[in-house]
Amino acid sequence: MAFDNPLGDFNLSVSANSCQDFDDVLPDTSSFKRVSFMSFSHSSSSLPSVPNAAQKNSDILVRLREQTRAEHAAIEQTLDILNSGMTLAAYRRILERFYGFYQPLERKLRGMAGVLAVGLELDRREKTALLGCDLSFLGRDPASLASSDQLPAVDGAPEALGCLYCLEGATLGGQIISRHLRKHLSITPANGGGFFHGYGEQTGDMWKKFKVELGAVAMNPQEQARVVEAARTTFLTLGRWCQKGLVP
Ligand code: HEM
Repeated sequence: MAFDNPLGDFNLSVSANSCQDFDDVLPDTSSFKRVSFMSFSHSSSSLPSVPNAAQKNSDILVRLREQTRAEHAAIEQTLDILNSGMTLAAYRRILERFYGFYQPLERKLRGMAGVLAVGLELDRREKTALLGCDLSFLGRDPASLASSDQLPAVDGAPEALGCLYCLEGATLGGQIISRHLRKHLSITPANGGGFFHGYGEQTGDMWKKFKVELGAVAMNPQEQARVVEAARTTFLTLGRWCQKGLVP
């Protein structure tokens, strides 16, 4: 598997119905209609696109993966959720911190629906409700939880896309985490494990579609840089927020 993380061996050893190499399902996007930010954006914070700049959109996917590798490794370490000694209390605490971050962030992202491609299916991708259900099941009222005091700015299309990259990518690791929860805490999607189960067997498809949509956006180099920076910021702010609440 190309993605390098400290749990590489674990990833490789998981079974056929486990985490696949999601790049296998990424189709060639070259025939997809290219859509520039400007064609669906009325945000003044978007930089102008360069319509004929032979946009190599697969570049953005490679850049995102490579340039957030360190941040991904850091957040895995902060969560430490694949620890075989993970307790139910520690798991619930992670859900609480995620809820406090996802809830306000997804609300902000919803406000960006008008400037993002319809094909991204933002509604379908929201995960706050899953977190809320899991927490309620585990005896915690989501409405009583603190929200993150720092959130990534998502007021431009590139920023929203970078942020979404991070949130959508989390569903991949979620598949591994979901199996871990079942094995070590007997948590299933029906009893508090809905968020990490996420799209379940649709995960590969949902990720593929997301990458197709992202790859279909024509971007100039400045816009690409903004997408990557937003993804990094999302990892970092979530990581910091979790760290504050998880590390004793
Ligand atoms: C213990 C926690 C985690 C584990 C074990 C994990 C594991 C993984 C794995 C196995 C992949 C798939 C790699 C591939 O197909 O090549 C992946 C991808 C990804 N994960 Fe995580 N992950 C974790 C937490 C997170 C979190 C909290 C986020 C963000 C909030 C995140 C964001 C991403 C992203 C954006 C990708 C896509 C990378 C790409 O561009 O291919 N992950 N993760």
